[in-house]
Amino acid sequence: MYTPYQDYIQKLKDTKKYRKLTNFRQDKISSFLDFSSNDYLGLSYHPEILDASINAIQDYGWGIKASRVSAKGHPLYEHLETQIALDKGTQAALFFSSGFQANLSVLSALLDFQTLKVRPIVFSDRLNHASIYQALLLSQCRWLRYRHLDMEHLNDLLEQEKKNLGLKFIVTESVFGMDGDKAPLEKIYEFALKYNAFVYLDEAHATGLFGPHGYGCSTLYNWERVPHVIMGTFSKALGGIGAYVACSQTIKEYLINKAQGFIYSTASPPCVVAAALQAWNKVRMMRQEREHLITLGIKLRAILKDLGADTGTSITHIIPVILKQEDLVLRVQQKFLEHHIYVSGIRPPTVPLGQARLRLGLCSHHTEEDLHRFINVWKKIKHDKIL
Ligand SMILES: Cc1ncc(COP(=O)(O)O)c(C=O)c1O
Repeated sequence: MYTPYQDYIQKLKDTKKYRKLTNFRQDKISSFLDFSSNDYLGLSYHPEILDASINAIQDYGWGIKASRVSAKGHPLYEHLETQIALDKGTQAALFFSSGFQANLSVLSALLDFQTLKVRPIVFSDRLNHASIYQALLLSQCRWLRYRHLDMEHLNDLLEQEKKNLGLKFIVTESVFGMDGDKAPLEKIYEFALKYNAFVYLDEAHATGLFGPHGYGCSTLYNWERVPHVIMGTFSKALGGIGAYVACSQTIKEYLINKAQGFIYSTASPPCVVAAALQAWNKVRMMRQEREHLITLGIKLRAILKDLGADTGTSITHIIPVILKQEDLVLRVQQKFLEHHIYVSGIRPPTVPLGQARLRLGLCSHHTEEDLHRFINVWKKIKHDKIL
């Protein structure tokens, strides 16, 4: 009975794609220099956020005890959602337990055939996150993938499907989690207007960091003329867990009544929502940290490029070092580990075949000294001809 599973695992091992869990203690003070985290603003240990969460757990316990559609509810959720909608410039917002859950349940609900009556068609960036991909599979919509950030390709596909009667959706991340580049949102907005398409934007890696007050790339534009749904997470720059969907009032009502992951799942506990609200409100005061991250990113990319490293199309705090081969990624990652530096090794299927890489996530507590520590080990690895 177990043979197919064992075969699957063995195949991954043979092709150096096997994943295993590590168990480093995630203490505040660690001797490791960590570039593997998505805690970009260092909010996971912020004392005011911890206090908000501790107070909520003492006052309300650690569970909400049911799904929000059947539990007696709690004003904290509405408070958070009102604030998110205000800062995102949308009519409404809805909180989910995780980004994966939000993408899976919201996107599949929006694409639901019974609701739309005609099969919708989705234009999805080829490098969109796995949760988006899974939502498309689940919804059984028709979908076309355009080459990463390639607006000409997107335009061609939209043109090709112009006469298709199904509702059209353009789906993209705003900042791409594995490449650290950005979607050209002006162009996407323009296409959405021209082809009468709905935009679904994933701001998981942009929330907290981009836009005038840190509330994501969407806040740089006025989306009024384009139907849109924007999701983002509390699991990256906001340091915790959970996700939001910012949308119109109609879509919020629809999701409460249709999104399976919202209806049939116990809601996040009040201590998570209290922390999320505190973290959300902290963001607008973190301009300095955002500027620091941009500066660090520019410096690190410049040094790496000088040393001949391929940092792809990164223009943000996420910097890939593309090594191509899985085994090389594992060996280089191990070398960094021996020097007490933790970097993520990313291999297919998380990235396309031949695109295995180290992924550096810069965080606001990183210093130039940290970058030099990384670079010195990089030079040593090159010197030892591991690369
Ligand atoms: C672009 C993107 N969307 C969604 C998610 C899922 O978010 P979460 O980790 O909160 O489930 C991730 C997580 O890595 C992501 O990178």
